[in-house]
Amino acid sequence: MFDRVAARYDLVNDLLSLGQDRSWRRRVVEAVAPEPGHLVLDLAAGTGTSSEPFDRAGATVVPTDLSAGMLAVGKRRRPSLSFVAGDALQLPYADGSFDAVTISFGLRNVEDTAAALTEMRRVTRPGGTLVVCEFSTPTWGPFRALYADYLVAALPRIARTFATNPVAYEYLAESIQAWPDQAALAAALQAAGWQQVEWRNLSGGVVALHRGRA
Ligand SMILES: C[S@@+](CC[C@H](N)C(=O)[O-])C[C@H]1O[C@@H](n2cnc3c(N)ncnc32)[C@H](O)[C@@H]1O
Repeated sequence: MFDRVAARYDLVNDLLSLGQDRSWRRRVVEAVAPEPGHLVLDLAAGTGTSSEPFDRAGATVVPTDLSAGMLAVGKRRRPSLSFVAGDALQLPYADGSFDAVTISFGLRNVEDTAAALTEMRRVTRPGGTLVVCEFSTPTWGPFRALYADYLVAALPRIARTFATNPVAYEYLAESIQAWPDQAALAAALQAAGWQQVEWRNLSGGVVALHRGRA
């Protein structure tokens, strides 16, 4: 599916998030807080949109993704990044390879959330950091209702106009609504062995950043 959205992925992101995604990405870097010399795995990196802010912050980032189409667009658009093909469920890295692992708008797409969280812990060094950036549940009731309408009505319309594969964006709306809320995702991190789990809401809970320590 991602092979077929790759070409206009960044443009559609900006449109659908009403430009918010740039600030969300800055918050991810702040939550990871990479130190000089730290090695950061950006899993499900797609075209590298989520990896670029780490590169700019001076961290060594390893964008890794399963989709050949997303990787091809990423390599063309961001030739300075070292993209790696890899499956979140069977990462091509040794135990404890990374100081931090992050995954932005990717965990929802991986088939087995629990297995992916466990695999991410395997490749993180003891004491290292995990930051998951994912769509979540708005905390204020009236805004939650408005957002549900946006997901069902406006989002597919915007996608039909601009995206290369609009059907993929119908899946996006459905998968956001089916995704666990903040507390449930925190519990999934803990069940996978992550410690000191906490989260922070962005844009009223449209997105949540979950952080844990290995
Ligand atoms: C919505 S994109 C997110 C891309 C990027 N992280 C961003 O923030 O823009 C989701 C990505 O998850 C990747 N993905 C889905 N399942 C995967 C898996 N099992 N292993 C690695 N990547 C996966 C897809 O190929 C796609 O590029």
